[in-house]
Amino acid sequence: MRVLVTGGAGYVGSHTVRLLLEAGHEVTVYDNLVYGHRAAVPCPLVVGELADRERLVATLAAGRFDAVLHFAAYAYVGESVADPAKYYHNNLADGLALLDAMRAQGVDRIVFSSTCAIYGEPTRLPITEDTLQLPANPYGETKLAFERALRWYGRAYGLRSVSLRYFNAAGAHPDGSLGEDHTPETHLIPLVLRVALGQAPHVEIYGTDYATPDGTCLRDYVHVLDLAAAHLLALDKLATRGEALAYNLGAGRGISVREVIAACERVTGRRIPVVEAARRAGDPPALYADNRRARRELGWVPRLSDLDTMVATAWEWHRRHPTGFDEPPAAR
Ligand SMILES: NC(=O)c1ccc[n+]([C@@H]2O[C@H](COP(=O)([O-])OP(=O)(O)OC[C@H]3O[C@@H](n4cnc5c(N)ncnc54)[C@H](O)[C@@H]3O)[C@@H](O)[C@H]2O)c1
Repeated sequence: MRVLVTGGAGYVGSHTVRLLLEAGHEVTVYDNLVYGHRAAVPCPLVVGELADRERLVATLAAGRFDAVLHFAAYAYVGESVADPAKYYHNNLADGLALLDAMRAQGVDRIVFSSTCAIYGEPTRLPITEDTLQLPANPYGETKLAFERALRWYGRAYGLRSVSLRYFNAAGAHPDGSLGEDHTPETHLIPLVLRVALGQAPHVEIYGTDYATPDGTCLRDYVHVLDLAAAHLLALDKLATRGEALAYNLGAGRGISVREVIAACERVTGRRIPVVEAARRAGDPPALYADNRRARRELGWVPRLSDLDTMVATAWEWHRRHPTGFDEPPAAR
């Protein structure tokens, strides 16, 4: 297939591009490089904004794409609370501009990066796709609103879509050439590994008095290549006109903050000093997926999502690339 990947210079997108190319697809990345990295893109790259309708339409027209994988978005929960306009514009309004450009060019297949943040703080675990969707922040709201737009665009215009609701992406390509490089970094495993590298003195644990086995929050970590693989399966699934599907992508179990830190000590052989801090507002005690629908309907099997593999692959990346992709600012 010919595939356009928005946000393909970012963390999950770049790993997915790698798998697409390995599977023989023709890939073009469309990314504004605000958070992405040119060095992470091994295929044609169009540096552009989703909001740049002319460029988007020209890119779609030139590539005669069969499908779009849509990763481009902002994904900082705290920032979305402080500046919701930024999130509504980028994740929702500019995302809709993409759908309109696709319609104009007759591209009718899309796989969308959704998130477990659409569920907010669920009252029952594990989270199924039918769990009440009640986002607790603008980030989750914009993702849910986009999913709903996909459903209505499907009914009215025949758009075929799969929304993949990722839990916590983690790990890196096992060959050590591709990994996570966010600025700022808010994800737990890279933050802990920074301490192992001597780049930070300690890691903070926000809340040690939750009603969880060791008092710290539980999250569902899933290897970035397992997420990437799900996109290829989703592309195969987009057979029926007008259909809008949604799948949870988590490994299906909760891992605590202390368990992550212990795994990082085990894998790196280095001690990780911790500082216990107060809970953060809006952090649910536990989030983990029921992933049976993705297993059943997509044939998805998370193969690399055991904790030590995720940490070991992330460690290989961070150890080899202690300053990330390390591009001079001008190249971004
Ligand atoms: N990483 C996770 O744990 C996680 C979990 C759930 C959902 N998601 C979703 O998955 C997607 C990818 O996440 P990630 O961690 O790879 O993020 P990322 O920031 O590494 O990648 C996003 C990419 O999109 C680009 N981008 C953003 N806005 C754009 C715009 N308007 N026009 C063009 N390019 C734009 C950025 O430059 C970046 O390269 C996001 O949509 C995110 O919301 C991620």
